[in-house]
This record gives sequence, C-alpha cells and structure tokens, in this order.
Amino acid sequence: MCGIIGYVGKNNALKALINGLKALEYRGYDSVGVAYFLNDKIKIIKDKGRINELENNIDINDLPNIGIGHTRWATHGVPNKINAHPHSVGNITLVHNGIIENYLELKEELIKHDYNFKSDTDTEVACAYIDYLYKNNNDMLKTLHEIQNIFIGSYALCILINNDFNNIYITKKGSPLILGINTDEKIIASDISAIISYTKNYIILEDNDIGIINRDNYKIYNNNKLINKEILTFDKNIDSISKDGYDHFMLKEIYEENELINNTLNHYFNNNLLSSLPDISKYKSIYIVGCGSAYNTGLVGKYYIEKYLNIPVYVELASEFRYKKLFIKENDLVIAISQSGETADTIEAVKIAKERNAKVLGIINTYQSTIARLSDEVIYINAGIEVAVATTKAYSLQVLYLILLALRNSNIVINNIDKEINTIYNYDYKKYIKHLVNTEHIFFIGRGIDYYLSVEGCLKLKEISYIHAESYAAGELKHGTISLIDKGTPVIAIITDNDIAKKTISNIKEVKARGAHVIIVASDNINIDKEIYDEIISIPYNKYLLPILSIISMQLLSYYVAKEKKCDIDKPRNLAKSVTVE
Ligand code: G6P
Repeated sequence: MCGIIGYVGKNNALKALINGLKALEYRGYDSVGVAYFLNDKIKIIKDKGRINELENNIDINDLPNIGIGHTRWATHGVPNKINAHPHSVGNITLVHNGIIENYLELKEELIKHDYNFKSDTDTEVACAYIDYLYKNNNDMLKTLHEIQNIFIGSYALCILINNDFNNIYITKKGSPLILGINTDEKIIASDISAIISYTKNYIILEDNDIGIINRDNYKIYNNNKLINKEILTFDKNIDSISKDGYDHFMLKEIYEENELINNTLNHYFNNNLLSSLPDISKYKSIYIVGCGSAYNTGLVGKYYIEKYLNIPVYVELASEFRYKKLFIKENDLVIAISQSGETADTIEAVKIAKERNAKVLGIINTYQSTIARLSDEVIYINAGIEVAVATTKAYSLQVLYLILLALRNSNIVINNIDKEINTIYNYDYKKYIKHLVNTEHIFFIGRGIDYYLSVEGCLKLKEISYIHAESYAAGELKHGTISLIDKGTPVIAIITDNDIAKKTISNIKEVKARGAHVIIVASDNINIDKEIYDEIISIPYNKYLLPILSIISMQLLSYYVAKEKKCDIDKPRNLAKSVTVE
C-alpha cells in the first residue's frame, strides 16, 4: 500500500526513483508518479497504472539530481491522474502515505482562505495546508512541527519546496519511513527494499521526526531539537527481486517453502535449539492479533497452543481489537503476527497491549519494522522478501513458528518434510481445478483445525481468482448455507484430523447428496470412501505438520485456478500487500 521514495545525490534521481518504486511495487498500488527539479522548476509526471507505463512518459534526457516518487493505493478518490501523487499546491509538492482523517474540516478552512482543489484526496488538502502554514512562517521545520497538532490520522511525507533546489523535507507519524545514507547521496523510502541497491546504511524515522535531507547532509529534529539518530547497517541478504524463471512470484514463493520450512526444522531440531525460542507456557492467557492471513495463522496457533500447553488462546482481528472491550491483564501475552510488521491495525493492537502492560511477542518477517521494534521479543521468520500480494511462504513459516512455540517444552523431534512437500508440489493441479475455474461460488469446509485451514485456503482462492468462496465449520453448513449447495457446486473439504474425520465425512455426504462436486484434501492415514468425492488431494501424513502440508496444496490449487482464469496473480485487483492505513 502506498510507497514513498525520495532521492537527492550525485546520480540520476529519476533512475533511483523508478528503481525504488519498482522495489516498492509489491506493496500494491494503482497509480504512480514522480516529481523532480529540472532547470529549477518542479516537473511532475503521474498517472493511473503501472510503473512501466509511467516510464514511457519520461524523457530520458531529464537528468535531475533530486526528486520524490509515489505508488498510490486509492483510499480517497478513484485511481486516476488527478488523484495520483505527487500533489502540488502553491510552493509545495509532496507525496504521502497514510490518511488525514480530518481532511474535510481542513479543506473547509482552506477554502475560506481561497484555496481550490482539483482532486478528491486527503493528500491534496495536506499539501495545501502545509503551503498555507509555510506561507505564514517561511520555515518548513516549524510547519512540519505545527501539523503534528493539526493533522489527525497517519502520514509519512516527502516534500519539495519551489526554489529550494537542494533539499527534501520529510516527516512521519504512524506510517513508516526510512532514510538511506551514502556520502554523496540520500534515499528516502517506505521500506528497506527500495534503498538496498544504493546503501546498507540507514536510519529509521520515529513518529514526529522531521528531517531536512540534501546530497551531503541530513538533519533530523524531534520536538524542535536536533537529534542524533543511530545509523543501522542492513546485513541480511535481500534476494534480488526476480521471478527466477517462474511465471509468477506467487509460484516461486510457494516453491521456496520447501527449503525455508526444512531449514527452520533443521535449525531447531538438529541443533537442539527449540528451547532458544521464548517460553510461552508461563502465561495464563494468550492473545494472538493479526490481519488477513496473519490472523488465520493465529487460528492454527490457537489449536496447537491450547492442545499442547493447555493455555486459553484468543485470536483477535487486529482491526477489531482496537475497539472492543478487552480483558487483557498485566501478565498476559499478546502475540502479534505480521509479515510486513507495518500493518496499521496490528501496530495499534500492539500499542494497546503495551499500554496494558501485557508482554508482546512479534512473529515478523521484516527486519526492524515497526511491530518488530515495538515488541518485547521478536521471532523473525526469515522468509526473505515476499513479493506476491497473497502470502504463501510467510503464512507457512508463521504457522511453523506457532507450532514450535507450542512444542518448545516437549521432547518432540520433528523430522525434515522435504519428501512430503515434494509430493504435494508434484500433483497435477490442472486436473483438480477443471471444475473450479468456471464456477461462481465455492465452499470450503472442515472441523477444528481443518476449519482453520479451510479459512486460509478459501481466502487464498478468493484473493487471486476473484471467485466468491466461503469457508464453513463443516457442522454449521446445515444450519443455513446448505441451501446454496446445488448440482455441481464445488465443495472443498479438508480432513487432516483423524479424531473428527468421521464427522466431517458425514457432512461431506450431506453435500454430496445434494449434488456437490467434492474435492477432498485429506491426510493419507484417513480412510475415505471413493463414493464421497470427485477428486482427492492426498496429504502425506505427518503428526505435527499437516497444516503446512495441506495449505501448500491449497495455495497451489488457488494459483492454478487464477492462472487458468488469466488473473493478475501477483497483484490482485484492489489488494495491497502492506496495509498501512486503518
Ligand atoms: C494484507 C495482505 C494480506 C496479509 C495482511 C496482513 O491484507 O493482502 O495478504 O495477510 O495484509 O499483513 P501483514 O503484513 O501484517 O502480515
């Protein structure tokens, strides 16, 4: 969701902006734009669409040394050229990530001061307001300090001022922003992936930091004081963002799961390191917060933690957690799960947990992200960059870590599952999907842990194939929705838990009797009568890791459905990878 880039330095700023925007592309966007100084004037190029299209409109003879850029994921106003960033009002040109919640009030105030607006965005209002304040005080530091008490909501801003040819002004509250530092160039970005090809040295901006950045220097202020920021060094390898011959990032990332899962298992079990993980058995109650698939991993975690540690676990959607009555106490644990570590709702949930003195354990993929920094303890899942919007490898690793946390104090040893994963990779998914591609509705059913897996399997399919799908606790189907099952309606049933398999099988018979086309995803230690299904995806039995094995098959199923439907698999419409607004 919305990516910000800024460059000032010895090199071609446009090249840096475009490269940076491409690195941020994975966050999800629908419009793109850049602004730069050329012959002492600010030139803006922006439009709805993809970065490649924008590149065609750029004059290769333009060789600026300073500029800002943006990928926009529409919140206020449709994706179009006018609503795209950068926005420019008076002396100010800026890009923004976040939402200014009180923009309508600010707009009214500005209209009284003769400001006119072209776009539907909150960002244009923010831009005009900064222009309005700056006109009065002619001091950008002061202006950016003043907006802290005027703008309600979240923002990361990168600002150019007419006739101020050498400086980029930056500030943030709620949305992420980092500054990459080289001797004679500086790069500002929403995340590390956009600066890493230029420098490994960077600083993280905290809320209300205000920076003046130029080619040779940078100054960061907070609360009107010049502050010394720690320069961090990014010492991890970021794999080059390429598809490595795969048709899509999603497929590449599904195929990375084998090595990632097995490396993690080898690390903890071959070296006897399970006890190096945090001991969560000491807590009386555990809350798990997350959004989307991260929330779904929490459901699987709940099953394992309750089963092996006998501690009640409450899985909460981070977006609801903020606004509900909470019973968290001082000695409770809140596990915050997030691939990006920047999901606005999850960040807020963590802040609430901290206000209540609960302990926060982050299960995060992105180093030094906001949630990682806010957490008392962090487990990095080390999935590497995940580019496809629909998460696959991060989901599986998050689930694996939740299982490992639940088993930490046991003597259980889990062996490598390389063979099992390869079996799942090698199935002929094109055969399974024949009946799914041209359908409008699909049902997923399961009980207990299998219901939790069906929720993620269902989400994956919806996200990338645009087919409407619903997941149901199998026993609930006949309390209403079985009325939607008709001749040929696809039902995907998950059966990995032998203890309740018979019950799910009864529910499958109910839908089969009504004409459903049944695809079963089942552990191969469970006997299933051929009469009750049309297709079966057989999951090699593994006592602890069936959730991971079965989800990989459903990720592949969704992938091939979406591929057959010619969907934009890596960048599904309307979705963003990193949701940095509430
Ligand atoms: C977005 C993505 C989902 C993701 C969710 C949580 O909605 O589209 O795929 O699961 O955010 O993201 P996080 O980075 O916090 O794991």
